[in-house]
Amino acid sequence: MKRLLFIGDVVGRAGCEFLADKLSGIKRENNIDITIVNGENSAQGNGITRGSADAIIRAGADIITTGNHAFRRKESMELFDEDYIVRPANYPEGGCVGSGVRILDMGAYSVAVINLMGTVYMDPLDNPFTKMDELLENIDTPNIFLDFHAEATSEKKAMGHYLTGKVSGMFGTHTHVQTADECILGGHTAYITDVGMVGPELSCLGVDSESAVNRLRFRMPVKFQEAEGACFLCGTIVEFNEKDGKSHKINRIIVR
Ligand SMILES: [Fe+2]
Ligand SMILES: [Fe+2]
Repeated sequence: MKRLLFIGDVVGRAGCEFLADKLSGIKRENNIDITIVNGENSAQGNGITRGSADAIIRAGADIITTGNHAFRRKESMELFDEDYIVRPANYPEGGCVGSGVRILDMGAYSVAVINLMGTVYMDPLDNPFTKMDELLENIDTPNIFLDFHAEATSEKKAMGHYLTGKVSGMFGTHTHVQTADECILGGHTAYITDVGMVGPELSCLGVDSESAVNRLRFRMPVKFQEAEGACFLCGTIVEFNEKDGKSHKINRIIVR
């Protein structure tokens, strides 16, 4: 049995610092074998940079997933050559840097980490369901975990049911709000609609609430400020059998 920790979107410098402060303790206390962290908002001012990716890896992540803000920072394109970072796999073929799948070699077993983006209320990327079919044909480990970065709960639920028995786990990200629906689907697939975030808790998804309120209230362009105040960390821990890829247990965690 192995234990995998998945942590939701790390927001800004405060999120990176809180992750660095807490991650090694969480890993130790829970006997974690593999750690995946979503880093699409880890840079100051959004996106991901070499500096924020380094901070997440130094904190103890094995793989960084991303999402709709993956390519926000033009100066960071070469970062996607690194084998510890995944970007949504359903960007159109041919012109996109990086990879949507990474295989983690754990010695006696391996783990595939896939990143996909939803297309409901999001950018019109390739169909995530058919993309997933294609990807699964070419992966030869039973231990497959998906970060499905999507807005609509319906699309995430549908993907979870579609992948039941086909992957070890699906973690929803992007909304930054942890949902209370973690479960094991079909005695095989760990599932949660959204894992949540890492960053200032009293905020609008990590953004200073005054700037978020002003943008929505006045419909004028307002520069988002990073929120201040005490941080929290939201994640999930999955226990799976690395021989057959079946997950047995999923727990949510919130560390303050
Ligand atoms: Fe995010
Ligand atoms: Fe996002």
